[in-house]
Amino acid sequence: MEDKLKQLWLTAQAEIAAASPADGETLRTKYLGRKSELNQLLGDIPKLPSAERAAVGELGNHIKAELTRRLEELVSRQAKPADDLFDPTIPGLTQRLGRLHPLTQTTDQLIELFQGLGFSVAEGPEVETEDYNFNLLNIPANHPARDAWDTFWIKPDKGAKERALLRTHTSPVQIRYMQDHRPPIRIIAPGRTFRYEAENATHSAVFYQLEGLLIDRGITVAHLKAVIDLMVKGLLGEGVKSRLRPSFFPFTEPSFEVDVWFKGHWLELMGCGMVHPTVLANGGIDANEFSGFAFGLGLDRIAMLKYGIDDIRLFLSGKLDFLEEF
Ligand code: DAH
Repeated sequence: MEDKLKQLWLTAQAEIAAASPADGETLRTKYLGRKSELNQLLGDIPKLPSAERAAVGELGNHIKAELTRRLEELVSRQAKPADDLFDPTIPGLTQRLGRLHPLTQTTDQLIELFQGLGFSVAEGPEVETEDYNFNLLNIPANHPARDAWDTFWIKPDKGAKERALLRTHTSPVQIRYMQDHRPPIRIIAPGRTFRYEAENATHSAVFYQLEGLLIDRGITVAHLKAVIDLMVKGLLGEGVKSRLRPSFFPFTEPSFEVDVWFKGHWLELMGCGMVHPTVLANGGIDANEFSGFAFGLGLDRIAMLKYGIDDIRLFLSGKLDFLEEF
């Protein structure tokens, strides 16, 4: 039976290939009609020993489907006048190449830069607990700094011990990583973050951050400053100057804002500082022995600067004309 099917397949293929569209109907009756050899063979399949049935059935169905397709193709050519069949002046179908999203490109560039400095990439969950997102980062429930992290809370399951939320920053990855690793620690953690706020050209409820954390013996602000300088120059150009300006974050002490001198202005780029002893302790690290720095930058912001994009909402708009510019 299998041989008969294969033979039939070869004969039919050859005949269809040599046929003209006008022969289509005749061939359809011959190969697919009710009384066709194929139909009879298919009808005999249930009588086969069960060990053969599945494989032969599959072959038979495949041949039937393929013959149907080829005959349809043959007949459809009939619809067009013969001289329309091939027009060498019609442009070919070009393959559209995919490309990486500008945020992916920016993230990849930063990953490469930091890997060159010995950092590895860490990740954490987008749905976080209140502990990791706030408490362990030294932001207690009544702390005014919580206002800065307008939060999407997740409706708790009955009996849940802890409230879950969409992480408002990538900083919780710091704690998670410290709890699982001993110093020296050198990581960056890029990822998606969420804030419950009105959207406009400079604010999006869904955005991207890149966290950095370095912990070892004897780490000082000088190390922080050096790494940031390398980052800014690698990212925005050798000639771009940066400065640290005193600021406040609950999880660092002292804390700074990094400004960059870009196109004739000082622009605020990101937050950073020396990891707060309480945060080190929450990560299980002895603050008498180790110190470190952390930073957190907005990837959307950097990509906007780099590429001259004026509306943050474009990133997640899915607009092809925007995406194709990169
Ligand atoms: N988590 C801060 C924010 O989302 C950014 C930040 C500031 C991260 C200072 C840090 C840091 O690690 O040291 O606004």
